[in-house]
Amino acid sequence: MSKAEERLEASTKHVYGTWRAQKGWKPLFIKDAEGVYMYDENDKRYLDFSSQLACSNLGHKNKVVIEAIVKQAEKMPYIAPGFAQEATENAVEVLLTVMPAGLDKFFFSTSGTEANEAALKLLRQYMAPNYKVISRYHSYHGATAAGISFTGDPRRWYAERARCVLEGACFAPDAYCYRCPFGLDYPACNIQCAEYVDYMIKEEGNVAAVLIEPVVGTNGKMVPPPEYLPRLRKICDENGALLVADEVMSGWYRTGPSWAVQHWNVIPDILTTAKGCTAAYTPVGLTVTTGKVADYFEEETMCHGHTYSFHPLALSAIPAAVAEYKKLMATGLPHRVSKYLEKRLYELEDRHECIGDARGIGHFWALEIVKNRKTKERFDTKADKFRKVHMTDRIAAEALKLGLYVASWYDTLVIAPPLIITEEQVDEGMEKLGKALEIADQEVVHTDTPPVRSAEAFNKGEK
Ligand SMILES: Cc1ncc(COP(=O)(O)O)c(C=O)c1O
Repeated sequence: MSKAEERLEASTKHVYGTWRAQKGWKPLFIKDAEGVYMYDENDKRYLDFSSQLACSNLGHKNKVVIEAIVKQAEKMPYIAPGFAQEATENAVEVLLTVMPAGLDKFFFSTSGTEANEAALKLLRQYMAPNYKVISRYHSYHGATAAGISFTGDPRRWYAERARCVLEGACFAPDAYCYRCPFGLDYPACNIQCAEYVDYMIKEEGNVAAVLIEPVVGTNGKMVPPPEYLPRLRKICDENGALLVADEVMSGWYRTGPSWAVQHWNVIPDILTTAKGCTAAYTPVGLTVTTGKVADYFEEETMCHGHTYSFHPLALSAIPAAVAEYKKLMATGLPHRVSKYLEKRLYELEDRHECIGDARGIGHFWALEIVKNRKTKERFDTKADKFRKVHMTDRIAAEALKLGLYVASWYDTLVIAPPLIITEEQVDEGMEKLGKALEIADQEVVHTDTPPVRSAEAFNKGEK
């Protein structure tokens, strides 16, 4: 056995790889990561164009965040959640400076899944006897029974087969303008995707909440039309349902402002987040509610908690990460580079026929890969997930060979680099991505169809 094979066996034999059949799992061994790069055991450098799982927003090895964690580890790495402690006080103090107005009561866990799990339990208690939650088909809300039940993507199908799902999930059509579920065009559509939620709530009955990713993450980086979120807020208010914003991926300056909901001046009743909360230096999940929801639990039991709720070591990264975000945003670099990234992605779209749609906002983009730009025929469908190697996997594998890490979903590539990336590093990524995309270009049906620019138009309010 070669040294590389030995290492691979040591890395995989006794552990489960996530979300996959175990056979054929050959993870790349990463020994170090710094800034926007990671390094394998032969010191080959890879540009991180997806911030790992859209979480390493400050890049790798940020000294300020690491120092804060080390300090807490030396002082008091753990204390049970029933005690008050400085790490919680400090985290709450800084979180209050970035939260949308009125969201000021926090529950701390250790993942986005748990953040949503807590939100679901709280809202179902608060809204009882109403218990249904409307989410959308293009969504991911977590891996455990609650989160996966309200997830629209194919990961739920497997949980359903394992009977690991809760009752009460309803799925609304997506604000997916590139493939409008109603076959309409914006703005003539009068945002039917939002109006239909009103119809659903009234027809379903017992609806407690609408749960959405304000800008869809894993499932396609869909930026809704400008009226969509404000209309959903109104529909929820008119029907007495809560609006829950899952900002696990879209939060923490990924789309520009600290929260994606801020693009549309919408304030949810509950906001969940994780990932960028500590820029992935420690695992934190955060569930935040309004005072109105919080008041209910003054007399009612808030029947939820974990051994690692309010974990001091995990929480210690929050004030440092927030300080680093504020410092970084004040330099203007993320804003400037996000515009550059947008321009370069549209240029890429112009050059590569396999890109059906380049859409996104800030440092949060998807390239939807198609076989035929005119008919929008896909290489791979939702039903293909977990069944075969997708065209997007092949592109990502080629990119990796070229020294670029870009995450892939069954129909899209995830372009979500750390917020510290520079224009030069964007250029480096684009050059490598362009070469990798040639794999798909060779298999497209040539149609001379120009690219769709829906996201750009929505962002500018032009379409
Ligand atoms: C929008 C959204 N919600 C929830 C989750 C679950 O978070 P975690 O993987 O930290 O449990 C994710 C993870 O990607 C996510 O993108």
